[in-house]
Amino acid sequence: MTDLLKGKVAIVTGAGSGMGKAISTRFVEEGARVMLADINPDGLKQAANDIDPTGEAVDTVIANVAKEDDIVAMIKKTVDTYSKVDILVNNAGIVDNIKIIENMPDDLWNRVLAINLTGPFLASREAVKYMKNQKDGGNIINIASVGGLFGSRGGVAYTASKHGLIGITKNIAATYGVYGNVRANAIAPGSIATNIGKTLDAPDELGMKALGDAGGMNSPVGKPEQVADVAVFLASDQSSFVNGTVITADGGWTAR
Ligand SMILES: NC(=O)c1ccc[n+]([C@@H]2O[C@H](COP(=O)([O-])OP(=O)(O)OC[C@H]3O[C@@H](n4cnc5c(N)ncnc54)[C@H](O)[C@@H]3O)[C@@H](O)[C@H]2O)c1
Repeated sequence: MTDLLKGKVAIVTGAGSGMGKAISTRFVEEGARVMLADINPDGLKQAANDIDPTGEAVDTVIANVAKEDDIVAMIKKTVDTYSKVDILVNNAGIVDNIKIIENMPDDLWNRVLAINLTGPFLASREAVKYMKNQKDGGNIINIASVGGLFGSRGGVAYTASKHGLIGITKNIAATYGVYGNVRANAIAPGSIATNIGKTLDAPDELGMKALGDAGGMNSPVGKPEQVADVAVFLASDQSSFVNGTVITADGGWTAR
C-alpha cells in the first residue's frame, strides 16, 4: 500500500459485488474514501462491512444507475458527506444472454442500454458539474469490456452498450480532458471471475457459437483484484497524462 489515492474521494457504482467491490477495496487501501453505490442493499451492506467495518473510509448509497433521481442523490450524498468527488467509477453493468439481434427482445435491449450506457452517461453528466469546478478537477473511469472492442464477446445489446461506453469515455476525454480538468479512461476486462456469469441463464445458441469460436470458452480467467489494480493506476496521479484510452485487462485473450 502506497497511499496513491490519499485524500481522494471516489464513487464506485455496482460496489456490492465483483469488480466494483474489489476496486472499492483497493481504493480504500490506497487512502481514498469511497461512496459505495449499488441497487442491491444486501451486497452493499456486506461490502461496506468487509471493506471498512469502522465506516471511516466508506459510506453507502442505494442507487439504480438507470434512474436519474438516484444518480443525482448518489452524487449529492457523496459531496455532502466528503465535500467533493474526485473519482467516478462507472462499473455497474449487466449481461444479455449473448442474444443475437433477431432474438433480442425490446425489454432486454432497453434494460441493458439503460444500465450499461445511460447509467454512466447520467452519472458522468452529474459528476462533471462538480468536478469541473474543483481545484484538482476530476477523473472518470468506465468499466467497459472486450465486448466494447469486438463483435462477438456478448450479445447485440451488451456489445452496443460497451462500444457506446467507450465512445462516452473518448468524448469526455477529448473535451473536458483536453480543454478542462476532468479526464476519462476505460478498462476493457476479458473474463473475470465474478457473479455476473450466474445471470447467463438462457444463452443464445448462435451467440454462444460466435463467442466460443472467438476463444470465449477457454480464455484466461482473471480475478477482480487484477482489474482493481488497473483502476488504481487510472485513478491516481501516476496516470496524469493518460486520457481517453482503453486499457484491456484480459490476460492476452484478444491478443491471440
Ligand atoms: N466479469 C466479467 O467477466 C466482465 C468482463 C468484462 C466486463 N465486465 C463488466 O464489469 C462490470 C462489473 O461486473 P462484475 O463482473 O463485477 O459483475 P457482478 O454481477 O459481480 O457485479 C455487478 C454489480 O452491479 C450491481 N448492479 C446491477 N445493476 C445495477 C443497477 N441498475 N444499478 C446499480 N447497481 C447495479 C449488482 O447488484 C452487482 O453488485 C460490469 O459493467 C460488467 O459488464 C465484466
